[in-house]
Amino acid sequence: MGNTLVIKGLNGEKRLRGTVNITGAKNAALKVIAATVLFKDTVKLENIPEIDDVFRMLELLKEMGAEVSHPRLGSYTIAVPKKLSTELPFEIAKRMRASIVVTGPVLARFGKVSFPHPGGCLIGSRPVDLFIEGFEKMGAKVVLEDNIYTVTTKDGLRGTEFFLKNQSVTVTETFMMAGVCARGTTVIKNAAMEPEIEDLAHFLISCGAKISGAGTPIITIKGGKLLSAAGRTYKTMPDRIDAGSFLILGALAAKELHITNCNPLHLEAVIESLRSAGVTIETKKTEIIVRSPATLHSVDIKTHEYPGFPTDLQAPMTVFLTQADGESMVFETIFEGRLNFTEALSAMGAQITMMDPHRVLVRGKSALRGRKLKSPDLRAGLAFVIAAIVAKGESVIHNVDTTIDRGYEDVDNRLRAIGVSVERIEQSE
Ligand code: UD1
Repeated sequence: MGNTLVIKGLNGEKRLRGTVNITGAKNAALKVIAATVLFKDTVKLENIPEIDDVFRMLELLKEMGAEVSHPRLGSYTIAVPKKLSTELPFEIAKRMRASIVVTGPVLARFGKVSFPHPGGCLIGSRPVDLFIEGFEKMGAKVVLEDNIYTVTTKDGLRGTEFFLKNQSVTVTETFMMAGVCARGTTVIKNAAMEPEIEDLAHFLISCGAKISGAGTPIITIKGGKLLSAAGRTYKTMPDRIDAGSFLILGALAAKELHITNCNPLHLEAVIESLRSAGVTIETKKTEIIVRSPATLHSVDIKTHEYPGFPTDLQAPMTVFLTQADGESMVFETIFEGRLNFTEALSAMGAQITMMDPHRVLVRGKSALRGRKLKSPDLRAGLAFVIAAIVAKGESVIHNVDTTIDRGYEDVDNRLRAIGVSVERIEQSE
């Protein structure tokens, strides 16, 4: 079954209005699900987004032997038994890159883990060298055979000091979790500082972990024990990429849009860029109110590790810049290949020149025309939805179930509620 969204464009009209409620963060939920492997008792999770990536991650743990229950929407409990399979189910792990974060806790607790080279979005080469180097530094042996990594330790992982050559989010999380069960002290230098890492650390600390510095470039973990939730519940932080995507849509096409249940402090780089482009944005503690002005101005953006401009919002922002007067440079510094989606925007009428694989020059303002699009990945997929809403005429976006649905909950209903004409067609292949 393939799903398609059919969107009737607004032809530049700025008439979206209403309220969009932001879901729990995908990139926090996936990691806390992996972290349940570090617990000797049941962990309760709330505000978990009901999205395909979460379902796959839960399926992965279930196949390894964890007990998962789902008492109501957004709410899960996970109990990991004393014996868990140390083999990540290959089919799921291959399709989902984030599954690699499970390797740290499984190796640290059970002394062994095997996993395939992970898959995920088609955005650049996405290597795993930092994971492998890290496991080896913590005293593990890594063997690669037929595209499967098998990692073993003789007498458990031992704490060590790393300097990460790239500030990788999942590498930081994997070793922060591994450090909780490793012997001695683990220090991660040049750690990523994304809010999801800090959020995970807070929960682990509340359950007995000794972690300091999460949210800064140096994280120290004193290890050596399993954690106990003792009835505590983890409540997932709001998804800053979900919020940022609706913020950019509002900046383009809203009379007045209220984005609720979000944390504006996590979106400062985006809010700053949109304000420079002339957008009116008001922030409250957990809400952002956005109105699109008559004229938008060009602004250069450069993606960067947090707190810089998030690479996951580069694609929607590039769509935004097609509607801004003047020339804007988009510099994607994190992933090569993440600007390839701009070809489809050019086919819709945008004026975009690829300078090199990391930079495009956008000349605006261009009238976009609706057309047939194939969503290449999760984030570019949502950018196509935004382009389709702004464009003139109808757009048909294929491939939605294997891309957009992986990371955005109930996207069509939330769009419809603010005035977008969108219809989902479920098709057999
Ligand atoms: C995470 C997010 C993703 C976001 C990205 C950057 C999750 C599930 N996904 O992805 O949404 O786009 O952060 O904010 O949280 N690298 C290496 N060697 C490695 C691993 C990574 O060189 O072993 C490099 C990558 O090629 C890339 C950089 O590190 O250039 C950052 O990637 P990374 O932070 O690892 O991305 P993910 O954690 O996969």
